[in-house]
Amino acid sequence: IVSPPRKRQNPFPKPIDTEAIENIVRPFILSDDDYRKLMDSMLENFNKGLGKETNASARVKMFQTYVKSVPDGTESGDFLALDLGGTNFRVLLISLDGKEVKMESKIYLIPQHIMLGSGVQLFDHIAECIFKFMKDHDLMGKTLPLGFTFSFPCRQIGLDRAVLTNWTKGFKCEGVEGNDIVKLLHEAIERRGDIQVNCLAVINDTVGALMSCAHSDNSCAIGLILGTGTNACYIERLENVELWDGDWDEPQQVIINTEWGAYGDDGALDFVKTEYDRKVDKHSINPGKQVYEKMISGMYMGEIVRLVLVKLCKHGLIFGGRGSEELSTMGRFYTKYVSEIESDVNDHFKNTKQVFEDLMIPNHTEEDCRIVQHVCCLISTRAAYLASAGIACLLNKMNRPDVAVAVDGSLYRFHPHFHDLMVEKITQLLNPGIKFRLMLSHDGSGKGAALVAAVANRVQQQKKQ
Ligand code: GLC
Repeated sequence: IVSPPRKRQNPFPKPIDTEAIENIVRPFILSDDDYRKLMDSMLENFNKGLGKETNASARVKMFQTYVKSVPDGTESGDFLALDLGGTNFRVLLISLDGKEVKMESKIYLIPQHIMLGSGVQLFDHIAECIFKFMKDHDLMGKTLPLGFTFSFPCRQIGLDRAVLTNWTKGFKCEGVEGNDIVKLLHEAIERRGDIQVNCLAVINDTVGALMSCAHSDNSCAIGLILGTGTNACYIERLENVELWDGDWDEPQQVIINTEWGAYGDDGALDFVKTEYDRKVDKHSINPGKQVYEKMISGMYMGEIVRLVLVKLCKHGLIFGGRGSEELSTMGRFYTKYVSEIESDVNDHFKNTKQVFEDLMIPNHTEEDCRIVQHVCCLISTRAAYLASAGIACLLNKMNRPDVAVAVDGSLYRFHPHFHDLMVEKITQLLNPGIKFRLMLSHDGSGKGAALVAAVANRVQQQKKQ
């Protein structure tokens, strides 16, 4: 029996209710007054972290890094570098020769069960990756100096001693918090017994970005990461670092790793948080922590967008009220979609439609494309502006006439407007008379670690003589 063809109904009979949509997305639009208010409370947080009496209770820890000077371009030699902290783990072999840098690297996956497993497992895995790398690069039997970019909050006791205070981003390995990660690395290497490394320095990825840029531009004084997580470091005068216990030789300054992702953990961002931010936080592995980071960085942005889309869909304002299982799945709307959708410049919405297909959305119109693009735009703009408030706050605090900011991270690299949005907002929020530039930092995590290790190596050799 052949049933007669059904008359196709217009799937979207109602006109688009723009006001209802605007009501849902309005909380993402903040005023300059809001951003200025944030800058004031950020500055308080920074100073609290730097203060001797106040550091213990501060949420933004302002860790001293023991990196006192930026490279001068005379660094040389072969170094190994490790980079842990984003989505991948990398091992690098770096040859420095003055301003010339040669690099070979390999990416190794860190499986989810290791990210959430035990610390011993994690460091055994890292040691195995180093072993494979050394074997593949004909380095067996050598002991190269090593720099470790470990992009998590660490209280440093020296350049080569870093105690993890708490995991952030997607990591939660037992038995690492409260321990020196250099010790854990050396122990794992000893357990194997077939390779040797000499870890001379641990740095944060922000410091790597700063070092790498400063290698070619000595006005560089801030390092910024906008990737899976977000964080910034900057050069601070020693007289402002009340907990400083290192030497007072010239230059009397040190790089401070702010760990600003934790800003807002005391409620300072509550007045701008949306219901979607609260949901993202609630379902994360570290609820109540890294509040600022969760409103900005790549690990969370896609999820914020997804939650808004789900709400719009529930109210019948997009996709004719019919979403999909994919759209309803936590974490399924990747942050790279936001960049792709916002890269659609004409009305064909090629990328946007591709994303809808990936998400198996059954029906969509051009109007849906426009609305989703609008949502992405508001959420990424808020992220860019929030980060700008942080940078403007640091620039005002440092009060140098001209500063280059080294920036790295997938969000900054791949989003089509992040850079421009930040330049615009920082300019608006900055005190008069201060000039700045945002510079893309190339491979800071590798090159930066090698540069710091090179300086440490030189000092170690000098001491031996
Ligand atoms: C997280 C980490 C921080 C790192 C940032 C960017 O905020 O805690 O150490 O710099 O992510 O990777």
